[in-house]
Amino acid sequence: MSQEAILQARDLKRFYQVRRGAFQPKAVLKALNGASFDLVNGKTLAVVGESGCGKSTLARLVTMIEPPTSGSLRICGVDIVGSSRATRRGLKSKVQIVFQDPYGSLNPRQKIGHALEEPLLVNTTLSKPERRRAAKEMMDFVGLRPEQYDRYPHMFSGGQRQRIAIARALMLRPEILVLDEPVSALDVSIQAQILNLLADLQEQLNLAYLFISHDLSVVKHIADQVMVMYLGVPIEMGRRDEIFAHPRHPYTQALLSATPVADPFREKKRIVLTGELPSPIDPPPGCSFNPRCPRATDECRQRFPEMRDVEGSRVACYHPFV
Ligand SMILES: Nc1ncnc2c1ncn2[C@@H]1O[C@H](COP(=O)(O)OP(=O)(O)O)[C@@H](O)[C@H]1O
Ligand SMILES: [Mg+2]
Repeated sequence: MSQEAILQARDLKRFYQVRRGAFQPKAVLKALNGASFDLVNGKTLAVVGESGCGKSTLARLVTMIEPPTSGSLRICGVDIVGSSRATRRGLKSKVQIVFQDPYGSLNPRQKIGHALEEPLLVNTTLSKPERRRAAKEMMDFVGLRPEQYDRYPHMFSGGQRQRIAIARALMLRPEILVLDEPVSALDVSIQAQILNLLADLQEQLNLAYLFISHDLSVVKHIADQVMVMYLGVPIEMGRRDEIFAHPRHPYTQALLSATPVADPFREKKRIVLTGELPSPIDPPPGCSFNPRCPRATDECRQRFPEMRDVEGSRVACYHPFV
């Protein structure tokens, strides 16, 4: 697997110094506290978990917007930790990001044609007519009409704006696309269109997707691998079919039981999450899920369970469902 991995993270961490109050000493917030995974060329790794579990932090590390606090991150075979600025700059065009809210990431006063050309203007030596042609081709490629080149973002619907954001991310021909909740702000009918577009683009361009969602049902069709996170740590990962058919971690089961399923037998195992997500500044000792877990024992309150193989998936739990 690792041979074809276009992105490899090992024990990746990102901590923030935060103040809890005006006269309080600074505290450490462990937004991402040890993520190890491979993203395979041309495939989709879905990253799933509740709001605040560290998904966007992971996205910022992978796109090199922020450096990791520790751990290693290899992109296209290059370890970005300790690499030169020039190396990282070269790699940055290989990894592009699409955010949840395309309106926030598009300049309202910039014509969309110009928004698409901007990455080319900054990173390539293409002439103005060449850039214009590339932008129009890309618009056509993502299902926008090239005649819309001179329009402004507000003249488009939410789904079309997300197409523009995707087009912009593709202008430099990246190999990895980080999609941070790309359909969460869209109506369900539009979500399906964007997911279909992403699936088509992946096939045609052999893109690898790091697809982030708080909602497991969104990734059901597009994911090859699924990684479930809780409070900054991956707690279960495996093949999509395995995760959906046999969720091993009680938290994955809870997430799945919160999403509508066609299978009525699944109801028997329904777990309703109680209690709040704890703060990553004061995570509970042991397994951080233990205060909300119906299976928790003393062991779970004492030591964090290491990831281990359970029937083909990897699970960080002392009492997985087998
Ligand atoms: N720049 C930052 N400074 C301090 N805390 C941050 C910063 N960015 C994120 N956090 C905290 O890190 C945790 C994870 O945040 P985030 O990665 O945005 O989660 P998600 O995308 O899964 O909702 C949250 O507790 C958040 O408040
Ligand atoms: Mg987020």
